[in-house]
Amino acid sequence: MAMNNSNDYMTRATARYKADSQARQRDPSLPVDILAIESSCDETAAAVIRDGHIVLSSVVASQIESHQRFGGVVPEVASRAHVEQIIQVIAQALQKAGKELHDMQAIAVTFAPGLIGALFVGVTAAKSLALAADLPFLGIHHLAGHLYASAVSDRLDPPFVALIVSGGHTELLHVTGHGAMVRLGHTRDDAAGEAFDKVSRALGLGYPGGPAIEQAAKLGNPAAFAFARALLEEGSLDFSFSGLKSAVLLVLDKHKRAQKEVPVADIAASFQMAVVDVLVHKAMLALQRTGLSTLVIAGGVAANRALRDRLLDVCQVCGVRLVVPDLWLCTDNAAMIGAAAYYRYQQGKLSSLDLTAVATLSIDAW
Ligand code: KG4
Ligand code: ZN
Repeated sequence: MAMNNSNDYMTRATARYKADSQARQRDPSLPVDILAIESSCDETAAAVIRDGHIVLSSVVASQIESHQRFGGVVPEVASRAHVEQIIQVIAQALQKAGKELHDMQAIAVTFAPGLIGALFVGVTAAKSLALAADLPFLGIHHLAGHLYASAVSDRLDPPFVALIVSGGHTELLHVTGHGAMVRLGHTRDDAAGEAFDKVSRALGLGYPGGPAIEQAAKLGNPAAFAFARALLEEGSLDFSFSGLKSAVLLVLDKHKRAQKEVPVADIAASFQMAVVDVLVHKAMLALQRTGLSTLVIAGGVAANRALRDRLLDVCQVCGVRLVVPDLWLCTDNAAMIGAAAYYRYQQGKLSSLDLTAVATLSIDAW
């Protein structure tokens, strides 16, 4: 019975998609409005996106306060908070856009990667709504979402090199076409954002660590500590941040044992500089390697001013076009999922209701 429902749904959703595409061929001004949902980590978010770049609404219910007292994201707390918030967040996104569910051309949701319980909440909500309204449904890779955050305010014309730096991922990609990419490098241990979070916790600066370190670093000397930059083997485009984190912990420990006051601002500034140095070095190496002249940065760490400023300088000198997302689109939100979904929709890559949440999935396997 469930199988039949699911098959019937696919027939109806595909028919709807075809009718819609034909209508748009006759009248290209008809918009593609997508309701997008994101719940892969600690933000419950929904948005309505028109044509992949016009944000009709974007609602983000942050769980930061729920996790702050634990110093990081607690998966069970996140799942519960998503369940409590998701319906309201979706309703608000539709209401703010002045739309009803049946006005949408499709529903998109982050299905991978992320916290499995958290992902399930979004995926279940999206599938239920798609089934109820016979709407095409698209499962979106979270990192593709991050990548397409820039499509909201800028042109995103492959081919280009992408540097995605978030709390869970550090990836260098060669994006060859919309939704087509080859992974050039990735972190072998901690993600860049994870390093910010761990160092921040050690320095007593709290969660999330990125903005806290950035703030503290403003008053510090970035040359105070010469933390090693892990460049790995000659020419490698992989990253490693756990050694840097350990180096910071060692300095902290030394100060504590000597009962000396911890120079928090100097450590924060020196740590941030070390991360920025490595990210910029590898991104430029990837551009050289591929012969491309456009760099797109994405993910929570792309909100970091020191990283943005340095890349702006370097890219200007090297004649590289740098594409950066607006600040509010760097950290998790559903607008970016809707932007990525638009290109997927154009390609007719609809998902079936069999699609399920997946905790780990490389972006080039999507
Ligand atoms: O992309 P995101 O919202 O979630 C994941 O997909 O992981 O990224 C969150 C990460 C956190 O580790 C946070 O500390 C970091 O991005 N972050 C920053 C900044 N804002 C957020 N890192 C450095 N500087 C920032 N301004
Ligand atoms: Zn993210």
